[in-house]
Amino acid sequence: MRLKHFLFGLLGVVIVACAGFFAIAWKSAITPIRPPDRASFDQALIHKGAMLAAVGNCTACHTQPGGRSFAGSFALPTPFGTIYSSNITPDPETGIGTWSEAAFNRAMREGVSRDGKHLYPAFPFDHFTLVSDEDNKALYAFLMTRPPVKQSPPANELPFPLNIRLVLAGWKLLFFDEGPFQNVASESEEWNRGAYLVNGLGHCGACHTPRNMFGAERSGMHLAGGQAEGWSAPALNPSSPAPIPWTQDSLFSYLRQGWHADHGVTNGPMGEVTGNLGLLPDSDVKTIATYVAALMGTPSPERQQRGEQIRKKIGEDFVLASAPTDTPAGRGAAIYQAACATCHDGSRPLPFGGINFHLSSTINAPDAQNAINMVLFGLPAASGRQSAIMPGFAAAMTDEQLTDLLAYLRETFAGQPAWPDVAARAADTRSGKFQVSVRPSDGIERGPDNIGAQDQ
Ligand code: HEC
Ligand code: HEC
Ligand code: HEC
Repeated sequence: MRLKHFLFGLLGVVIVACAGFFAIAWKSAITPIRPPDRASFDQALIHKGAMLAAVGNCTACHTQPGGRSFAGSFALPTPFGTIYSSNITPDPETGIGTWSEAAFNRAMREGVSRDGKHLYPAFPFDHFTLVSDEDNKALYAFLMTRPPVKQSPPANELPFPLNIRLVLAGWKLLFFDEGPFQNVASESEEWNRGAYLVNGLGHCGACHTPRNMFGAERSGMHLAGGQAEGWSAPALNPSSPAPIPWTQDSLFSYLRQGWHADHGVTNGPMGEVTGNLGLLPDSDVKTIATYVAALMGTPSPERQQRGEQIRKKIGEDFVLASAPTDTPAGRGAAIYQAACATCHDGSRPLPFGGINFHLSSTINAPDAQNAINMVLFGLPAASGRQSAIMPGFAAAMTDEQLTDLLAYLRETFAGQPAWPDVAARAADTRSGKFQVSVRPSDGIERGPDNIGAQDQ
């Protein structure tokens, strides 16, 4: 009898829990509207929306390379499978043409589609939730006035049960804090504006914060270094690997122009980020630099001193290792001299010359991924304008030679032991396992009708 009671009791609890879960998980559809007339949107609001879309990098994920802007179908590789971005042009059938502003606002704030479907966090709504109603209004005006494109994304490639969108309601229950952004009263206005942009639309944490096994950003590890498109995104907190500590000034110019003499040029997906931030008014980029510099904190006297020493060292005539010896680092030195030194000995100014490796976060990083990506794939030329270029050495070097080269670079320029797993990582990188995105330093190729703020 007791057991029966217990089982009924348990069943009751399960039913109530399920009902409660469905009450939270169930989202109603928002009534479709007739696509609004382009002329009904204020020009200044559209312009503001273009700027905000640049901060949010909407084009990067919603445009296929060479494809129509905002038409979606861009494949996002995740550890769980491939997710395709939606068409966010105002096409009424395949895009968001029939979405009211309320429906758009709900997608940004709660990660729910107009029809009530939960959206995958590959769409960074866990950041966009912080965006104010006012900024969403401008984004809506911008998107609803883009040229409509008829195009539906392919079906996502996700295993069961992740292909069931209801699962996402559970994910939100565990990992999602709904916005909007709340000012921190003890901090300055500039800091708060920076925090709003970095943690909201800028979604810097989507790449720079490590994730847990459920793909959620780990709490307590804010901007402590993460992964993005086959690259490592360095820590932006006190454990920043930069040999010369970042300052508010150097962050400002790096984010503004995509490079800084003490830190090099943006690589991989970061190029797209700075390419877009370049469209913002200086005042906004400055607030981002202020917030990130505060997060990194004042460097310890030891770090500061190490930075000074490095500055001195690169000022002196740099003497290369003499006759290469038959050790890994010795063999690496021979490759460095033949293949890298002409560009990287520090005699050519940035951004078009290569950085002296004493200054490189990539050579000082805790893992070898970005160094491997750079040597194998280089930095392709941007189309139609002068950009930093580096040839890829994938065909010229074996994994063994790459291992020797990086052992030399680590020892000589970072004063650290070789990374332990270079050969295996290099093999996996070559085989496409990490799906490394290789882009010029100013980001992706843009489609002919891509409208950014500069075209407004
Ligand atoms: C990191 C990649 C990424 C970025 C950046 C991104 N999106 Fe998305 N977005 C996606 C993906 C992937 C989906 C589809 C999610 C799904 O199917 O559950 C999506 C879906 C959406 C949807 C829902 C569309 C629908 O039909 O349900 C809207 C609206 C949207 N994004 C707007 C934006 C806006 C506005 C920006 C810029 C402020 C932006 N996105 C930036 C990846 C991104
Ligand atoms: C033709 C010139 C050229 C050659 C040769 C070259 N590079 Fe580069 N490399 C560049 C340029 C330009 C950049 C972008 C500016 C920068 O950040 O250093 C770059 C960037 C890098 C970076 C990223 C640095 C950072 O922290 O941002 C690494 C690592 C790198 N190169 C490694 C190498 C290695 C190793 C070799 C030799 C196998 C090599 N490069 C050969 C031009 C070159
Ligand atoms: C799509 C992924 C992605 C997003 C979003 C992103 N980053 Fe990055 N970031 C990277 C990667 C990858 C690197 C490393 C490559 C390089 O050094 O250029 C990087 C490098 C950097 C660096 C250089 C760090 C160093 O020590 O060399 C800074 C600073 C930075 N990001 C700041 C930001 C800020 C601020 C934001 C938000 C406005 C942001 N990033 C958004 C991927 C991203």
